[in-house]
Amino acid sequence: MVDPIQIKDLTYKYDTDGEEVLKKISLTVKKGEWVAIIGHNGSGKSTLSRFLNGLLVPEAGEVIINGMDTRDEDKMWEIRKYVGLVFQNPENQLVGTTVKDDIAFGLENNGVPTMEMEERIRNSAEKVGIAHLLSEEPHRLSGGQKQRLAIAGIIAIQPSVIVLDESTSMLDPQGRKEVIQTVLHLRETENITVISITHDIDEASLADRILVMSDGEIVRDGAPEDILTDEEFLIDQSLDVPFSVKLQRYLLKEGINLNHVTLSLDDLVEELWKLKSNS
Ligand SMILES: Nc1ncnc2c1ncn2[C@@H]1O[C@H](COP(=O)(O)OP(=O)(O)OP(=O)(O)O)[C@@H](O)[C@H]1O
Ligand SMILES: [Mg+2]
Repeated sequence: MVDPIQIKDLTYKYDTDGEEVLKKISLTVKKGEWVAIIGHNGSGKSTLSRFLNGLLVPEAGEVIINGMDTRDEDKMWEIRKYVGLVFQNPENQLVGTTVKDDIAFGLENNGVPTMEMEERIRNSAEKVGIAHLLSEEPHRLSGGQKQRLAIAGIIAIQPSVIVLDESTSMLDPQGRKEVIQTVLHLRETENITVISITHDIDEASLADRILVMSDGEIVRDGAPEDILTDEEFLIDQSLDVPFSVKLQRYLLKEGINLNHVTLSLDDLVEELWKLKSNS
């Protein structure tokens, strides 16, 4: 089976005489994987995401999506159907006068027959929990509902890969949780590959794999348990340190030394219980 995303030596600058924004990026993402991309402002995360569905096309290096080279113009529609991008601000993606029209818009653009549209609209709206809002006007929805509508518009097209670029950053904690759960549910039921670009370290900690970008390069690629417990590295990258990891540093100062650094609070509590019962 061909991997959904294969990038080789991708180098990019927006202006010919400008700085390289991506520097020899190589990356393979497997089917069904959930990859979180973190990194300081301007490190190149959004630029990289634009290469994943052909919004940007490489001049140096290559981006192969499900075996299709994004430089191949004949494949552009197929690539856009395969990879759905959800941006930070849902307002920029909402176009319809009703929620239903909005989802229909993308389907029309993708040449989905009218007969099939109705069912796809209902299905995708149900999946993100907005089926009861189909006749509402998009601008009247809450931030979380708008974001879920943007996701519904994308999943109606039935992509195999969903890329979320800071898609939860404008939401309150409850809204964030809902969007993440929606995407997680889709991954479970449809084996969708998920790439989530985020500044939220707790969100990133749930992923299968984390990529850390800095100045146009992938500087770390590994499991959340390895990367997010490396406090020195995170601080060095100007990234947030998970609450649980911070707490363990304070505990250490107080002379409480755990066997290993844990990422989740539940694991931390578990370790503390172990320590207490051993003492
Ligand atoms: N359309 C553009 N034209 C010129 N330069 C751009 C453009 N978009 C981004 N850049 C520059 O490219 C670099 C990478 O930007 P990018 O938006 O990919 O970073 P990012 O990691 O997504 O940052 P953030 O966390 O702030 O969203 C930055 O130096 C940015 O100023
Ligand atoms: Mg960005």
